Amino acid sequence: MILHSRKLYRYATNLCSGYATTANFSSSAAHCTQQQPKTAILMLNMGGPQHTDQVHDYLLRIMTDRDMIQLPMQSRLGPWIAQRRTPEVQKKYKEIGGGSPILKWTKLQGQLMCEELDKISPETAPHKHYVGFRYVTPLTEDTLVQIENDKPERVVLFSQYPQYSCATSGSSFNSIFTHYRQNTLPDNIKWSIIDRWGTHPLLVKTFAQRIREELAKFVETKRNDVVILFTAHSLPLKAVNRGDPYPSEIGATVHMVMQELRQSNPYSLAWQSKVGPLPWLAPATDDAIKGYVKQGRKNFILVPIAFVNEHIETLHELDIEYCDELAKELGVEEMRRAAAPNDHPLFINALSSIVAEHLRAEQPVNPKFLMRCPMCVNSRCRDSKRWYQQICSQ
Ligand code: FES
Repeated sequence: MILHSRKLYRYATNLCSGYATTANFSSSAAHCTQQQPKTAILMLNMGGPQHTDQVHDYLLRIMTDRDMIQLPMQSRLGPWIAQRRTPEVQKKYKEIGGGSPILKWTKLQGQLMCEELDKISPETAPHKHYVGFRYVTPLTEDTLVQIENDKPERVVLFSQYPQYSCATSGSSFNSIFTHYRQNTLPDNIKWSIIDRWGTHPLLVKTFAQRIREELAKFVETKRNDVVILFTAHSLPLKAVNRGDPYPSEIGATVHMVMQELRQSNPYSLAWQSKVGPLPWLAPATDDAIKGYVKQGRKNFILVPIAFVNEHIETLHELDIEYCDELAKELGVEEMRRAAAPNDHPLFINALSSIVAEHLRAEQPVNPKFLMRCPMCVNSRCRDSKRWYQQICSQ
């Protein structure tokens, strides 16, 4: 179906800005050690423009990635949309300080994770983290070359999306497969995959702690009535109906976090950044806020549950558009936003524990990862899964 062009622009902008990021870093890796790494950990994420000059290329890569988005005549329409959307997306980045902080946070997380790993898993040390972004530098393909040059014994491909979606994690994994279809796979490297970890106890504790930090800022008489509104990027129902596991994995994280909080507050889950005329997961986060205000709720905490760093959706959409503008418009008493995990010590502990547990386990790849969505028609998924099965069994 061809989207109406204006709606399509908006769709592209929101999609792109929703996932974007910045920081003044250009290198894809930071050394935890000056020694040759024994274990390389490639942290995969979407990435985001570090400055506004990168916005166009970032949008272009998104709009031409068929794992992320399927458009009619994509090879022509994608570049056109990217060109048209660039000024508006640049403006949003300017409003959050000029760029996305994802690279800054990922590098810090990787460095702290490896420092812990060197202590708790000396048999696999030295560890070194690398950053592989899908749509902006450091691009995953370039980082793979850097890893090869460092000649580690083992590479762990570690998705930084806790909950799996074929549009996000799946796209990153497919891009690695595509890279090695055109380049020789290096000998003597053991490959393994961490593809999802949305219910890891330490991740759950991190989110719960971030919520407690905000709850404590409400006066005691209101605290128990604050609505905890979890929010995640929406997904087209077309993808959901193919069997994408994302909504159920988001729901599992929400359930575990509320269990950790001992059901202290009323809560709900909503989906942000839906655009275009096609049906997506609902309710939209702003609609959910409006609905609860109509029902008499006056105090809220918004909790971004699907991203481990601040990014434009937290800093712009949640902070500026909802916690500030929408809250004022609706006469909300207080609307706060829980911080992303970022460098919370519990979260660093989660990252290092997840990798250490993975390195000790006998299972290089989760069987669920090797299985396609039941209604998948993407031949790249088919070929990629076969390839991963093969390289992870070597
Ligand atoms: Fe999910 Fe292909 S779309 S495996």
